Amino acid sequence: MSNLSLLLRLTFLACFFFTCNHSGERTSPASASRLLPSGKMSYMLPHLRSGWAVDQAILNEENKVVVIRFGHDENETCMQMDEILYKISEDVRNFAAIYLVDTTEVPDFNVMYELYDECTCMFFFRNKHIMIDLGTGNNNKINFLISDKQEMIDIIETVYRGARKGRGLVVSPKDYSTRYRY
Ligand SMILES: *[C@@H]1O[C@H](CO)[C@@H](O)[C@H](O)[C@H]1NC(C)=O
Repeated sequence: MSNLSLLLRLTFLACFFFTCNHSGERTSPASASRLLPSGKMSYMLPHLRSGWAVDQAILNEENKVVVIRFGHDENETCMQMDEILYKISEDVRNFAAIYLVDTTEVPDFNVMYELYDECTCMFFFRNKHIMIDLGTGNNNKINFLISDKQEMIDIIETVYRGARKGRGLVVSPKDYSTRYRY
């Protein structure tokens, strides 16, 4: 066996062991609960903890839609939204980056974006706010729960396709005018 192929095999084994240990840790409920802040459900999406971090996330993303969920982390509706966003984050990762912002922790945008709802999703592309016509009369944001994963993927994909063509307003694939709003 050549030195190179021995090295490759050793590297492979090392990676294999590391991955096993790593995923073993992640699936252990005991250690998972230790990682979570007490009393707060956390879906492993990145939080932006300051106004500066929000600005940087929007400014630094050149090719993807930046989806920001503004809201209250501990609100149950918001947690359901976070769960949906978390579940689709892998599916949309080539064209969208999803972040969470707790509007109590980071109140900087509350007035500017009128973030009075418990849970609001907004879209940005190349430092521009992208509006979406959902049939609700509010094109600035999604301020109701989208509980269907595929619907959320379709919305983000529509925003991405429109924004790349230079549009500042896109039309949602589905009309939500009859949807329960809060
Ligand atoms: C969570 O948000 C929903 C939707 O705005 C609201 O109806 C509910 O009262 C909130 N729950 C709490 C505990 O504030």
